[in-house]
Amino acid sequence: MTDAKQRAATAALAHVSEGTVVGVGTGSTVAHFIDALASCKIAGAVASSEQTAARLRARGIAVLDLNATGPLPLYVDGADACDPQRRLIKGGGAALTREKIVAAASERFVCIIDPGKRVARLGGVPLPVEVIPMARELVARTIARTTGGTPVWREGVVTDNGGWILDVHGLVIDEPAALEAALDQIAGVVSVGLFARRPADVVIVGDDPPWSW
Ligand code: 5RP
Repeated sequence: MTDAKQRAATAALAHVSEGTVVGVGTGSTVAHFIDALASCKIAGAVASSEQTAARLRARGIAVLDLNATGPLPLYVDGADACDPQRRLIKGGGAALTREKIVAAASERFVCIIDPGKRVARLGGVPLPVEVIPMARELVARTIARTTGGTPVWREGVVTDNGGWILDVHGLVIDEPAALEAALDQIAGVVSVGLFARRPADVVIVGDDPPWSW
């Protein structure tokens, strides 16, 4: 698995241009990407989490404020599941909100995954939802009632934004973009780990050799 993640991460370097600012996601696949990125002459990176910012700095890469960079040409991130339309479930590392922000600020989103993340249809893995802590039970009740899924509080986890995570199990996701929009409307939801309205532009799978679509 480590080899597959590393292969996907290394292949993503082909999308990096010298002198640019790169948006960088979060997770074990992205950790390989950061290590490889250290050899590129980029202007700096925008981090999607404190964990990523720390690794970027440790590799000598300048961490920049998204408010100061303008649009980014490239965002590279992993995923927990990816369907044939490059729609994703993300948030296994609880960084979904900042990941969504940096993805939205980027012209091209390159997703790097190991082969186990490819799915015919989203819904096999729990869907993370970041919530304002006081709204946890309200959001959980609303999601259970309106979707039939079972929200489980990821107890003990606090996001970089001070939010909490509900993992919604047992969802049947027929229309990912519609579900994403509906969940976004619930009071107390900060963001939803469905990346369907803004899917990846390219997905690189770390098979040997890596391939993309
Ligand atoms: C973090 C994420 C990650 O991209 C996702 O969990 C995949 O992680 P990994 O590369 O470790 O398998 O969404 O919030």
